Amino acid sequence: MLDATHPPSAEITSIAHIDEAKYEEMYAASIADPEAFWGEAGKRLDWIKPYTKVKNTSFDHHNVDIKWFEDGTLNVCANCVDRHLETRGTQTAIIWESDDPNIAQHITYNELHDQVSKFANVLHALGVKKGERVVLYLPMIPAAAYAMLACARIGAIHSIVFAGFSADALADRINGSGAKLVVTADEAIRGGRATPLKKNVDEALSKCDADVKCLMVHRTGGDVAMNPERDYIYAEEVERVSSHCAPVEMNAEDPLFILYTSGSTGKPKGVVHTSGGYLTYAAMTHQYVFDYQEGDVYWCTADVGWVTGHSYIVYGPLANGATTVMFEGVPNYPDASRFWQVCEKHKVNQFYTAPTAIRMLMGLGADFVESADLSSLRVLGSVGEPINPEAWNWYNEVVGKGNCPIVDTFWQTETGGILITPLPGATATKPGSATRPFFGVQPVVLDPHSGDEIAQTECEGVLAMGDSWPGQSRTIWGDHARFVDTYFTQYKGYFFTGDGCRRDSDGYYWITGRVDDVINVSGHRMGTAEVESALVAHKAVSEAAVVGFPHDLKGQGIWCYVTLMTGEAPSEELRAALVKWVRHEIGPIAKPDVIQFAPGLPKTRSGKIMRRILRKIAEDDYGALGDTSTLADPSVVDDLIANRGNT
Ligand code: WTA
Repeated sequence: MLDATHPPSAEITSIAHIDEAKYEEMYAASIADPEAFWGEAGKRLDWIKPYTKVKNTSFDHHNVDIKWFEDGTLNVCANCVDRHLETRGTQTAIIWESDDPNIAQHITYNELHDQVSKFANVLHALGVKKGERVVLYLPMIPAAAYAMLACARIGAIHSIVFAGFSADALADRINGSGAKLVVTADEAIRGGRATPLKKNVDEALSKCDADVKCLMVHRTGGDVAMNPERDYIYAEEVERVSSHCAPVEMNAEDPLFILYTSGSTGKPKGVVHTSGGYLTYAAMTHQYVFDYQEGDVYWCTADVGWVTGHSYIVYGPLANGATTVMFEGVPNYPDASRFWQVCEKHKVNQFYTAPTAIRMLMGLGADFVESADLSSLRVLGSVGEPINPEAWNWYNEVVGKGNCPIVDTFWQTETGGILITPLPGATATKPGSATRPFFGVQPVVLDPHSGDEIAQTECEGVLAMGDSWPGQSRTIWGDHARFVDTYFTQYKGYFFTGDGCRRDSDGYYWITGRVDDVINVSGHRMGTAEVESALVAHKAVSEAAVVGFPHDLKGQGIWCYVTLMTGEAPSEELRAALVKWVRHEIGPIAKPDVIQFAPGLPKTRSGKIMRRILRKIAEDDYGALGDTSTLADPSVVDDLIANRGNT
């Protein structure tokens, strides 16, 4: 075995929930008898009507149907809030750390209950009913958690749109989900800079049905336009409601939320998660993966606009009665010691972030880390993209002082919770490997061409899952056929992740990245097709092809090949205008890194753009262009190489 391994220390094994032998035993049990394993695991929640059926799932592409705990009823909000009041009402549920390092707020479970109940009553008063969708377009403020839990309390389905998305992206998601209410703030504030959320909502709503309302909470007190026919101010509405709101009884399979995410083609997909299985899985993974123990302070730096924020800031931790930190700011404001100052200030025990942040902070040097007392840290997590061994080692040594297990957690919006991950105290880690499956998870490596499952331990191929787990997404909102098509059709009988992977001789999984046209920019999923359609919507552009390329900080950068309309000439101004255009159409996370003007794109004779070639050119890897003989016009490639990145 060439890969260095980091066995769990005796210290961590002595306090962790489980050790290696226990992991093996529990994993084997979860696979041998999923009914019994999850039947027991589901008891971690409070059910109104206990389930009698546990698992009823089919990956057969003629009939993809996934149900867990299907005859049980519960309320997700009651499980995250009400049931803790008796035992931990005065314990802090949420520590809110503002963008301003001098402001933090501790919200107890009692206060959370009060705030969520009032929020739920405001939603009710605005006419929101069980099963209806509510779009949340909010900064990382406590109201975001209140709004999520308030929806869950009354059985409304929330759909969070990351506050970094543009008005157009927001409008698409409001229309796609059929929401009649958008909850927003006047402005968001990050790194000292304000983003005009309410203004974006105004722009978005001009593209939506006239009966969509807007509820606005105050964050900055900045100036906003209010439309009295349509807009409501939370501070005023809340004066009119009581703080009592009974949680609504929901079926385990009733949707809890929709979250739009990028796919390889066309428009973002509204991934649907339901109630009982999702919460069981989010809570259980949160407990075991982070080894969350009573009294710990846990911090996930994600935004609630992404699935990580749903499962591992709000639902998983709160279902476990944890203290969870919610951070409004960015890692480098006021300076690059911010993460570590916050860890010291709140005595954080588990810290969970993304490789892109680790790489950026690594580049700025160890002094920022060493300025803070990090002795409270016990477990360090990573999520969102493969973590390169150099960043892993830095995280381990400089941040963790060699004492904190690193949990490199592989999962996706569609999976609801972590699938492949080390467990502290149980798993020896290797830098860059997500290691072993969580309980009940059956990873398989498939031959990408034949679709056959590869039996030998050491292999490489595409990653799929052989059977269901309770946190899995059930469908795509309004388009079950697309759900089946995307995940269950190419490789029949499996859930296909869209990722490539390698399995080593120890049975450890190494995720190698997406094998479809999804790219991962700073841990954010981006469909190249979305960037392309934004580009071609510009009047100067006739055609565009977008690929990812290796980027030191972001993991992948966005490289755009752009063919202009006849009569348009390449220029620096046009290049800047196109970058700005894409930012405006989708949001800052989609900002192109390179715009290469291309007189022609490499196409097959049937007109299909050969992205494989474009990827190789962007990667500066011309030796590996492969067969170009099927191209309609092979000379196009020479031109692209000659003008690589500088036209
Ligand atoms: C990638 C984020 C390697 C992967 C939770 C996946 C990872 C996509 C890891 C999902 C990891 C996530 N190692 N790659 N630990 N975690 N990915 O839906 O390509 O935003 O398919 O969910 O991120 O991104 P999503």
